[in-house]
Amino acid sequence: MLFNLFKKNAEEKEGASQYITLQVREIVRETPDAVTIYFDQPEPHLEYLPGQFLTIIMVINGKEERRSYSLCTSPFVDPFPGITVKKLPGGVVSNYMNEFVFPGKKITVMRPMGNFTCDYHSKNKRHYGMVVAGSGITPIFGITKSILINEPNSKVSLLYGSRNEAHVIFRSKLEKLQSDFPDRIFIHHKLSNPGATWAGTKGRIAIGDVQNFGADLLGDAAYESRFFLCGPQELMEATKLTLAELGVPKESIFSESFYLDSPKKEETEGEEQGITQEVTVILEGKTYTFDVTPDKSILEAGLEMDIDLPYSCQSGLCTACRGRLLSGKVTMDEDAGLSENEIEAGYILCCSSKPKSGNIKINIE
Ligand code: FES
Repeated sequence: MLFNLFKKNAEEKEGASQYITLQVREIVRETPDAVTIYFDQPEPHLEYLPGQFLTIIMVINGKEERRSYSLCTSPFVDPFPGITVKKLPGGVVSNYMNEFVFPGKKITVMRPMGNFTCDYHSKNKRHYGMVVAGSGITPIFGITKSILINEPNSKVSLLYGSRNEAHVIFRSKLEKLQSDFPDRIFIHHKLSNPGATWAGTKGRIAIGDVQNFGADLLGDAAYESRFFLCGPQELMEATKLTLAELGVPKESIFSESFYLDSPKKEETEGEEQGITQEVTVILEGKTYTFDVTPDKSILEAGLEMDIDLPYSCQSGLCTACRGRLLSGKVTMDEDAGLSENEIEAGYILCCSSKPKSGNIKINIE
């Protein structure tokens, strides 16, 4: 019964353009707690940008779960798209993906999303600085491969923190890149708890490491600098501050958050808050109007009405629920997933938005 229900849901989702079913092609164990799951190419081929992510939708123990995982592949290099999933303690989906997924399994996903990507040009002469910890390497790996293949005059320096030798995700693949592009990629591993024979640097990535790394890169005056950061929020915030102190403009720094460590923003008391408001959502050309009570986000209220609104993290990071506000006002508890340009252009995240006025109309593309 449950299976039929999910099958029907999956078929309905497949009919909607933001969903697609992918078949698992191969599973590669990267470390004791991380796998890369490669998918067969669907027809037409999956369109994505290096650094974007897929939102996986699956039923586990009778409950629909959604999680976003970054693509580690590059459409410029890799024939098949792949995501890398690291087990989290108690993580329902990440543990399932590590232990129970098999070649041939079909998985419903949302089409690739995310702004953590790079503009490539064969004439670019850039030095890219990647500051990464743990599974933060996943989107960076796809971006790095794309840079090396698309920009023959650019180079990449990677500062990569891991627990120990066995937990360095893509270690041998990175070594292969280094031997393929010996003058264009420079990799600095730092291990927090290495074995006795480790000859490299030890400890977590610290401010001093970022200062030296950033200063070296900026000293390379023949190249334009770009920085990509992916790892724990604390590391990224400290890295951004350090780079800013070194004079790096914020337009040259790109970052991706997997988890939110900071508390949610305080709710702003709007004049009309506390009132149930009618909200209209345009989704794939269809218009839905429903009430949103003060205790609910627009996403929660829409899902309760059985409207198939797109979502994944429900915490303002993944942008799966992104829509454009056509009229009215909302307050957003969390907008970390949106860029300043998107906010200026009127984009909101339905999972963290509550009505602040009447006449709210949102278009979800
Ligand atoms: S569902 Fe992820 S940002 Fe809203």
